[in-house]
Amino acid sequence: MTGLKRSHMCTEVNETMIGKTVTIMGWVQRRRDFGQFVFVILRDRTGIVQIVVNINEKELFQKVETVRSEFVLAVKGKVAARTEQNINPNMKTGKIEIIAEEIKILSESDALPFQIEDSITVKDDLRLKHRYLDLRRPSQLKNIMLRHKVVQVIHSFLDKEGFLEIETPILGKSTPEGARDYLVPSRVHPGNFYGLPQSPQLYKQLLMVSGMDRYYQIAKCFRDEDLRADRQPEFTQVDMELSFVDENDIMDINERMMQKVFQELLDIEIKLPLQRMTYQEAMERFGSDKPDIRFGMELKNISEVVKGTEFVVFKNALENGGSVRAINAKGCGSFPRKQIDSLVEFVKTYQAKGLAWIVVNADGTLKSQIAKFFSPEKLQEIVDTMEGKAGDLILICADKDKVVFDSLGALRVELSKRLELTKQNDFAFLWVTEFPMLEWDEEENRYVAVHHPFTAPMDEDLELLDTNPGAVRAKAYDIVLNGYELGGGSIRIHRRDIQQKMFQLLGFTPEDSQERFGFLLDAFQYGVPPHGGLAFGLDRIIMLMSGASSIRDVIAFPKVKDASCPMTDAPNVVEQKQLQELGINIVQTEE
Ligand code: AMO
Ligand code: AMP
Repeated sequence: MTGLKRSHMCTEVNETMIGKTVTIMGWVQRRRDFGQFVFVILRDRTGIVQIVVNINEKELFQKVETVRSEFVLAVKGKVAARTEQNINPNMKTGKIEIIAEEIKILSESDALPFQIEDSITVKDDLRLKHRYLDLRRPSQLKNIMLRHKVVQVIHSFLDKEGFLEIETPILGKSTPEGARDYLVPSRVHPGNFYGLPQSPQLYKQLLMVSGMDRYYQIAKCFRDEDLRADRQPEFTQVDMELSFVDENDIMDINERMMQKVFQELLDIEIKLPLQRMTYQEAMERFGSDKPDIRFGMELKNISEVVKGTEFVVFKNALENGGSVRAINAKGCGSFPRKQIDSLVEFVKTYQAKGLAWIVVNADGTLKSQIAKFFSPEKLQEIVDTMEGKAGDLILICADKDKVVFDSLGALRVELSKRLELTKQNDFAFLWVTEFPMLEWDEEENRYVAVHHPFTAPMDEDLELLDTNPGAVRAKAYDIVLNGYELGGGSIRIHRRDIQQKMFQLLGFTPEDSQERFGFLLDAFQYGVPPHGGLAFGLDRIIMLMSGASSIRDVIAFPKVKDASCPMTDAPNVVEQKQLQELGINIVQTEE
């Protein structure tokens, strides 16, 4: 290639090597000319090192003068100590420099669309159009390296725990439940489609039927759903399934795995066992099934306090089976009116019709936009119930429980951001347990599974399956970190009759169930071990560990909001010939 052979990575060169000849290769971060000398900062995956070219080295000097940012160079030279005043304590290689003896330009670079620096403020689309350049930025590179290391720790941990890593198909059967499937047309079966897996759920259960006992996989999953900061159409799960275990066994293994990951990579000690909280408690206290428990501002139910008062908004909510709940934003009584109004607008995005507020003034008097509907005593009673003190702001929402929880749950998180109540590197894990099994879907007019249709009901609730399915709790658990659902799993149904009953509750006819999940029901005739498992979102783990604000920053080649890739322009129109082979006709719609 060059005649030169790399001897070291950039940051492997150090002060123990002074006088030695090294050859390094990398990208030009910067070139600076100082008359007698030219300094080149060369960068590779490990970091940067300084190269010096002396004006007396005529030929070298001429060559280095042509070098610009992001040229790729091979440099051979002698390691030298920097003079005292030139030592850079902020640089790993800040005590040395390399006096160039030979330079090869391996590749040139055009002017860049953006600088290779962490502090750039370019639009995401431009960044992702040139993701290969974006990944040269230290923060992005760091995330990718962290991801690699986390996966290594997980492989080694699960191997020691007796898990087998098994790959499951990407081309599978479409059995949508929850998100939409991505479909792949079959050429040899015109009109037929494979579905890309939303998760390896059914395969991993079948592996338990096979007797594999403990399975895991770092699995690519595909879901055709709307993107968010913590959601991509293709993402990665750390997926596992275990036989002959109960919920506690699964939670135990997984929390030990997280402990190991955080210990080895961030040197942070996670105390075990992790806190556990029922779904019910999480909703009541935090308005969320993935509560951020790093700060207070917990919800309180004040329905009893305001019952019988004349404020029609509260009255209607209570009469319609809803509730009135509030949070105390401590110290926020001094918010200007505009900021309070912005909170009212904020909750409206969660379907709340409004937000009532009470300010506790410094002198203890109260100010509220709903004061006229209440006696001064009643208003004070609300404040007392909320433990309101001078300077506090009480925020009240009345509606159906779901709207109240969603609104106040999100409001508390929003306030924690505005008030900067949380620090990075403060990690609060918990398990949320006893999820409801089913949820009534107004649109589809049927029950849908909260976790998935293979989740076992809690033994104590089995009887409710016939009488009050909506009240049945599941043997399901989520692992939550700082307000994010990091992973979720459950003990599965392993009896054919109960599985069939579950499908029936979800509104499938026996024919439907057989058509969609016949392979599972068939397998359930041949000896099924009790089993359960869990899947983590790997991208979310890395996002939270690295402090990134989106999982995009921890995925090498992510998609943008409309599920497209600005770099490759996927998805794209394909050739007519390809479509013909697949027997597909594109129908043009009005849009
Ligand atoms: P679930 O659907 O809860 O469970 O997914 C498990 C975890 O995967 C992550 N995740 C996502 N990450 C990024 N983008 C997405 N679109 C996305 N969707 C989900 C989340 C989530 O907690 N088969 C079951 C697991 C089981 O029961 O064992 C499952 O897929 O972090
Ligand atoms: P209205 O009488 O509808 O104008 O409401 C009076 C005040 O109550 C307004 O300031 C609203 O923001 C507030 N409000 C309206 N709906 C709700 C609700 N569902 N929960 C709490 N406060 C509300």
